Amino acid sequence: MIFVIVVAIAISGAVIDKFVNPITIAITTTIASLGTSRRSRLNLGSACQAVHLAKAEFYPGSQLQSMDLGLYFAGRRVERAIARITLCKTKRKLRKMKTLPHLFESNRKWAERVSMAEPDFFSSLQAQQSPEYLWIGCSDSRVPANEIVDLRPGELFVHRNVANLVVYSDLNCLSVVQYAVDILRVKHVIVCGHYGCGGVSAAMEDKPHGLVDNWLRHVRDIYHQNRAVLDAIPDIDERKRKLCELNVVTQVGNLANTTIVQDAWRRGQSLVIHGWIYDLGDGILRDMGVSIASCGELESATRS
Ligand code: CO
Repeated sequence: MIFVIVVAIAISGAVIDKFVNPITIAITTTIASLGTSRRSRLNLGSACQAVHLAKAEFYPGSQLQSMDLGLYFAGRRVERAIARITLCKTKRKLRKMKTLPHLFESNRKWAERVSMAEPDFFSSLQAQQSPEYLWIGCSDSRVPANEIVDLRPGELFVHRNVANLVVYSDLNCLSVVQYAVDILRVKHVIVCGHYGCGGVSAAMEDKPHGLVDNWLRHVRDIYHQNRAVLDAIPDIDERKRKLCELNVVTQVGNLANTTIVQDAWRRGQSLVIHGWIYDLGDGILRDMGVSIASCGELESATRS
């Protein structure tokens, strides 16, 4: 609205230059640009520039008159104001990106909620963790370990990677398993895959995905080892689901064959390995029925 009024006044002034005091318009415009809201200032700035350009168009080669100068300086002033506002906005945005304040706010509210419900919760956790379960799952953001089994902090030791793999040369995963089994003495290790796994799907494709293909090679190997079974499934989605299941079964075998688990069983430690799969579609976990609790069970499972 202000934009329209200023343009109207100024253009009228330009046309009937002799009858309107241009300095008055310039001063009014400048004062208005100082006293109005940010949005109005932006409009005024645009208006001043538009009028200045219009004047230059109507009177090519003419000397700048006082109104032109007034409008010009008002425009420049507003331009600088716009630049300052833009810079402030950019700085605020950058600061937000660097500090993610909304997540800290969420964290503070969560901690408050937990403390209200159970005042000793954090102090008791601080003393020691004694989880009963180790979870080896996919990094997929849709499969949050604690949430889908409704366990609280301190109840689940977690390792996640793309496509929930247990690879013998992966020091990260093996270190987690060793710490969980030898130090924390967890009673169960759960390998949990999920249908709709992007890693498993990518491993079935013939196009490159970059570095991650080196990791997914392990899934691709499972695909090739079970090619006859998988290729007999005509539906591609069903085939992917089957590979997700086969992947879980294979990783359970890999885990059971690690020296860490074997040693634990040999010394009589109670430790059960489970293979589960999670369905993103209904949020339900399914047991693959491949649980192993001893070296003997592993041998009989391998023979069958
Ligand atoms: Co996945």
